[in-house]
Amino acid sequence: MRHRLVLTVLALTVVAFAQVAGAEVDREKLLKEPGVYATFAVFKVGDQWSQMDKEARAGGVAEVKKVFQKHADNLTVDTYLLRGLSEKADFFLRVHSKEMLHNQNFLVDLMGTTFGKALRNTDTFNGITKALNYVPKFPDDLKTELKTPPPQGNPYVVVVPVRKDADWWLMPQDARTALMKEHADATLVYLKTVKRKLYHSSGLDDLDFITYFETAKLDDFNNLVTALLQVKENHHNKQFGEPTLLGTIRPLDEILEILSR
Ligand code: HEM
Repeated sequence: MRHRLVLTVLALTVVAFAQVAGAEVDREKLLKEPGVYATFAVFKVGDQWSQMDKEARAGGVAEVKKVFQKHADNLTVDTYLLRGLSEKADFFLRVHSKEMLHNQNFLVDLMGTTFGKALRNTDTFNGITKALNYVPKFPDDLKTELKTPPPQGNPYVVVVPVRKDADWWLMPQDARTALMKEHADATLVYLKTVKRKLYHSSGLDDLDFITYFETAKLDDFNNLVTALLQVKENHHNKQFGEPTLLGTIRPLDEILEILSR
């Protein structure tokens, strides 16, 4: 009883503190909901950054952190290191919000900082989360399997942009559902080691989908993609990757520290 009272007081204190501290967006909710806009912004750090003295770089890092704080009420940003695994880019950001305008305002502010001015924006992908298209028509046992909880605390990220061909979109919904069932069947053994998220991009980008994955087992991910390249749906992939982003999930502070070395 006393235990429950202490827990209630604690919960109320947390709620009161959150209200005083301001209305930061609910990250977990934003990452689950349909109708959320995502922008993937990929950057390469220019030489001018490493040529700046240590003090100026420390000031630049503080400026970047302020921009993240300024926009925390409207959006959530996930940060990933690419340096060492890619020659084209050093890091990327995954921004989620309820309005594409919020994503743009955040990225414009970031690019206006001293650090931002030293960056080259090598790629940007835009998309939106949506309700499931095909799963509702899948057999119940497959639907249940697809609900397997994904792995947590994954160190690796992979992002694969995908574009389908005209035949895919011209196919009746039932025929596409059958091909997507084959796709889903091929992935089942990887549900425990690969976490996934799908973004729809048609009309918002030159892509149709941004596919996003987290895993601790890149060998499983490699086998998963090999399995998917062998199902009939793959005939309709006009673009698969190009670029594929492979990186590690790291906090902003760590990324800024590594890129300031
Ligand atoms: C554990 C791994 C995976 C699982 C469980 C999985 C499962 C699914 C399911 C169930 C759908 C249908 C969603 C709906 O009903 O709207 C889907 C869609 C899709 N998946 Fe996967 N998938 C996996 C991995 C991959 C990989 C590795 C790729 C490509 C790199 C990929 C690309 C896609 C694309 C592009 C769609 C959208 C197709 C469309 O709506 O036309 N998936 N996936």
